Amino acid sequence: MSHQVPELTDTRVPRHVAIIMDGNGRWAVARGKPRSMGHRAGVRAVRKVIRAAAEAGVEVLTLFAFSQENWNRPDLEVRLLIELFKATLKREAKSLDKNDIRMRFIGDHRDFPAELREQMKSAEAQTASNAGMTLVVAVGYGGQWDIVQAAQRLAAEGRDINADSLADALDTRGLPDPELLIRTGGESRISNFLLWQLAYTELYFTPQLWPDFDGTALMQALDWYAGRQRRFGRVPEAA
Ligand code: IPE
Ligand code: IPE
Ligand code: MG
Repeated sequence: MSHQVPELTDTRVPRHVAIIMDGNGRWAVARGKPRSMGHRAGVRAVRKVIRAAAEAGVEVLTLFAFSQENWNRPDLEVRLLIELFKATLKREAKSLDKNDIRMRFIGDHRDFPAELREQMKSAEAQTASNAGMTLVVAVGYGGQWDIVQAAQRLAAEGRDINADSLADALDTRGLPDPELLIRTGGESRISNFLLWQLAYTELYFTPQLWPDFDGTALMQALDWYAGRQRRFGRVPEAA
């Protein structure tokens, strides 16, 4: 069986960068502050990294903001994260639009408040015709959920299940797979993020906590990526 693998290209700036923004809580606790302060500082880092990624020429930036498993945190923290997300979206949507950024939200949103679901829909609609960077925010997202919902969708439509149709039914349909995954916060795990889409992604783990991450840190990760040789199972090119 021939399996579709990406073309070997020497494009040095990844088209799609995905980030697991981890370490907000530890950042705050290290300063004797409540975890909520870490999440607020995390929003400031998000703003810097969006700007830097767009300037670097990244086409798609996907940020993991809230996992399905994060529903298992204490109620108070979950509520705070939802409120922070709502307030941030409300405040930032206009300026993202002005910067020609197109927004997209992936994940299972059924358990989020109706008001927030509406905000996400209207931000998507408002920015749908923008031609700049696509900003994908993963909320209530789980990689296993995504594969299951894709398979269920294909089955319900009576469609053939193969690698192409499945990729097309994922919540990320239409987007290129990430060439680079960044995880801050020191853990070397995927935590049920984009499981299918990360099949051949370069993985960059940094001990930096998310609130300390910024444009310079992003450039360091892009530099690291530029030095990787991607083989996709083939043999290295002759020297
Ligand atoms: C990441 O930071 C933000 C979310 C998961 C919402 P954490 O809140 O996981 O921070 P740590 O890992 O506990 O430091
Ligand atoms: C992963 O961080 C999820 C997000 C960054 C949104 P977690 O802090 O939830 O991951 P684990 O629990 O350490 O694996
Ligand atoms: Mg964490």
